[in-house]
Amino acid sequence: MRREKYEATKAALQFEDALEALDGAVRSRDFARAKLDRLGAQMADLIETFDGAPNARALSTLKSLRHKFRFAEKALERTQADCARARRAYGELHEVYVEAMDRLHHQLIARQDEMDVAHRISAASERAFTTMVAEVLNRTDRPDEKDLFKRPDDSYDYIPFAVSKYLETLIRLDALLSNDPDFDDANLRHRPVSYLEVGCGHGRNILLTRAARLIHVGDYRGFDINPDLVELGRKAFGLNGTIEVADALDYDYAPHDVIFSYRPIRTAALQARLEARMADTMPAGSYLIAPLAEDLTIYPEFSRVCTALDIWKKTG
Ligand SMILES: C[S@@+](CC[C@H](N)C(=O)[O-])C[C@H]1O[C@@H](n2cnc3c(N)ncnc32)[C@H](O)[C@@H]1O
Repeated sequence: MRREKYEATKAALQFEDALEALDGAVRSRDFARAKLDRLGAQMADLIETFDGAPNARALSTLKSLRHKFRFAEKALERTQADCARARRAYGELHEVYVEAMDRLHHQLIARQDEMDVAHRISAASERAFTTMVAEVLNRTDRPDEKDLFKRPDDSYDYIPFAVSKYLETLIRLDALLSNDPDFDDANLRHRPVSYLEVGCGHGRNILLTRAARLIHVGDYRGFDINPDLVELGRKAFGLNGTIEVADALDYDYAPHDVIFSYRPIRTAALQARLEARMADTMPAGSYLIAPLAEDLTIYPEFSRVCTALDIWKKTG
């Protein structure tokens, strides 16, 4: 694709030069033709003034005009030949340009097809995973609606993060960890991390992280304020001992290398309090993935390490 782009650009520039050259040649030819016409008209006017035998002065002027006319005829022939050459070059380069654009166009269509397929694969994977998770959850015993935990007003309900976006985040995180001396490992791309999900609900993302194997994890942890979701995840996904009930606002983040926190709290003030708590207790060198954070830019110890996604590193 890069080669096709280069060839098309080169052909476009050469074609533009050829067009300019042809334009110049046509103008020179028209100029030469106009000059010839002018000289021809001058000679005709002069001959018309002859009344009987022309005098010596008139004959000398006519001779000089004829000389100039022959010279102008040669100049016209030359400019006509230049024009023909420029037109041929223009035609050839036009063909090269059309072919190069055609090849680029085919490449673009092929790339578009690949992207369409990639988008469909991503949407289908999202659907398949979400449906399979829902089927497992639906087969699991749950408390009656009336006995369900009442979500605090300031907390978000369980709203799952998009699967493809989550996987993309893990891919970016793997690249960051692999290049980070704090996570150096003699045998692996990076040393295994301790992973924590804040507001993990039933723990679906923990299953996903484990199954996708995009990063090396030594220890998976998750917690949620909603005990029904934690209980459901323990029963449905066997996450006993991995997920627990806790409140993000007073949690100690110190033991974890990677923390995923998809905006658990609705109110700006409480979410900001959660972010202050993380900035305070997360260990230096750890990573925070925080989509829809309130404002992490206010903490000098956090640096955004992935501009495309919400990945931060605590440097201080
Ligand atoms: C937006 S959902 C995120 C779900 C999941 N983390 C994901 O990204 O797919 C927010 C979750 O945070 C939980 N939550 C809300 N407030 C919380 C708090 N103070 N402490 C812990 N969890 C909380 C909610 O119960 C809910 O499951």
